[in-house]
Amino acid sequence: EGPETVSPTGQATGEDPARVAQSGAYLTTAQGARLYESDHSLKAGARGPVLLQDHHLREKITHFDHERIPERVVHARGAAAHGVFRSYGTASRVTKAAFLAPDVETPVFVRFSTVLGSRGSADTVRDTRGFATKFYTEEGTFDLVGNNIPVFFIQDAVKFPDIIHAGKPHPDREIPQAQSAHDTFWDFVTLHTEATHHTLWNMSDRGIPRSYRMMEGFGVHTFRLEAEDGGTTLVKFHWKPRLGVHSLVWEEAQIAGGVDPDFHRRDLHDAIEAGAFPQWELGIQTFPDTPEQTFEGIDLLDPTKIVPEELAPVQPIGLLTLNANPKNFFAETEQVAFHPGHLVPGIDITDDPLLAGRLFSYLDTQISRLGGPNFAQLPINRPHAPVNDMHRDGMHQTAVHTGIAPYRPNSLDGGCPFLASAEQGAYVEVPVAVPESAKRRVAPESFGDHFSQPRQFWLSMTPTEREHIIAAYTFELGKCAVQAVRERALTVLANIDPVLCEGVAAGLGLPVPPATVPFADVEPSPALSQLGAVWPLD
Ligand code: HEM
Repeated sequence: EGPETVSPTGQATGEDPARVAQSGAYLTTAQGARLYESDHSLKAGARGPVLLQDHHLREKITHFDHERIPERVVHARGAAAHGVFRSYGTASRVTKAAFLAPDVETPVFVRFSTVLGSRGSADTVRDTRGFATKFYTEEGTFDLVGNNIPVFFIQDAVKFPDIIHAGKPHPDREIPQAQSAHDTFWDFVTLHTEATHHTLWNMSDRGIPRSYRMMEGFGVHTFRLEAEDGGTTLVKFHWKPRLGVHSLVWEEAQIAGGVDPDFHRRDLHDAIEAGAFPQWELGIQTFPDTPEQTFEGIDLLDPTKIVPEELAPVQPIGLLTLNANPKNFFAETEQVAFHPGHLVPGIDITDDPLLAGRLFSYLDTQISRLGGPNFAQLPINRPHAPVNDMHRDGMHQTAVHTGIAPYRPNSLDGGCPFLASAEQGAYVEVPVAVPESAKRRVAPESFGDHFSQPRQFWLSMTPTEREHIIAAYTFELGKCAVQAVRERALTVLANIDPVLCEGVAAGLGLPVPPATVPFADVEPSPALSQLGAVWPLD
């Protein structure tokens, strides 16, 4: 079932949102006037000119002309489902978030997506996948807006338009739709070596998942949890699929992309219709909240780094079950608006500079994509917690607010909404100290290591996974027309591992360049290998 319908003020009503558009037995105009005929426009005689006074014709065509809204600037292609999240209560020692208390069930809506293709592109392209979850909690909506890859291409949001411009189809011919097989993508990721880690994951089997149901999800950034007693813990969020992690092989992905571009969308829908409800466990890696915000030498504010699970095991905190398909793709999957700033008491952000930009970007883009500032009133976006804000008017306002004084305090409306204390459930930011330092546009030194974790990932792969990675780089770089970019890419690979570089260089028929940075002394992390990666449950 979809989320319970709520009134514009957020109170549950049980009202059917289709009622306004599909009630009554008769076909009508948008104003409710019954129609006697629906197939012919009004003409002066059977063969005469169509008359301008045909309101039904004009209304119908005008509405049709405005049916499309802009697709998302990224993650345009997606599929979604409703479900429920049941918490185990194991997170209660580190967070006061009410939906993570023992045995709480929270309705959710989850949207999976590719990143770079347009709304009509194929599902099985090599790309990162979005994994965005909206938890309709009693304390307000919490969105966990993650991906199926635990790291990101860049370390600072100011570079986001650049990586997306490089990854989107070339502006002259608008091809290719796929992420990797083009010059601008490879130009960017070889000039910005902080992108090496994410790119390596993309070139691994993770870049071509077999099913949305068989992907891991990651919150990527480090978040800060706050417990009832005020104690704080740094965490990374993980989704672990109950079906295990599985990928297509490249040839399968290519064939599926041509034969059935809706491969993943269909798979998700059909599985849910058949009652094979996909499930994921939500887990957290926890780290002490120290002033340095590092763990075992890893900068927790650097979104290009993971913390290997051997160093910080993923601790299960709840179970997600997707059990209902959307009834209307547009109203739900297309109009849903996620935002990493939709937080509930007990979950706070950290100073990851990539996250800072995201906190601005989502609301901003949704104002344009969803036609103004009132999209929280759309059924799929309405919180299940009571809403009493002082936002008024604006495009597509559907609430009929009462009172004359939408400000606080006021002495005219017979009282105004109360402010809550933390004990009464207010969202209060954790009072983290701000470092005393001059304002500067620089990256911290700890963001400078771009190769040790890619090397660790490579060393953790099985021989089959390595073969796939070499084949993927060879195929994608083989499509790259600019020789200098291919050569630069080989230098990046030489800095990861000689075997990887030699394999790709041989495939491209190019000489093997020397490494330009010394190899990091890293141990393989077996948890990174996805072959046989079935999450240990029960
Ligand atoms: C959309 C994840 C970085 C801007 C999305 C979506 C996901 C996602 C899953 C699709 C949401 C949906 O299904 O509707 C991530 C992750 C990131 C990241 C995991 C890095 C860790 C960024 C950054 C920016 C950004 C740095 C901008 C500074 C956007 C925008 C959208 C979007 C504008 C479209 C939102 C909409 O139209 O509703 N992102 N993203 N993202 N992301 Fe990100």
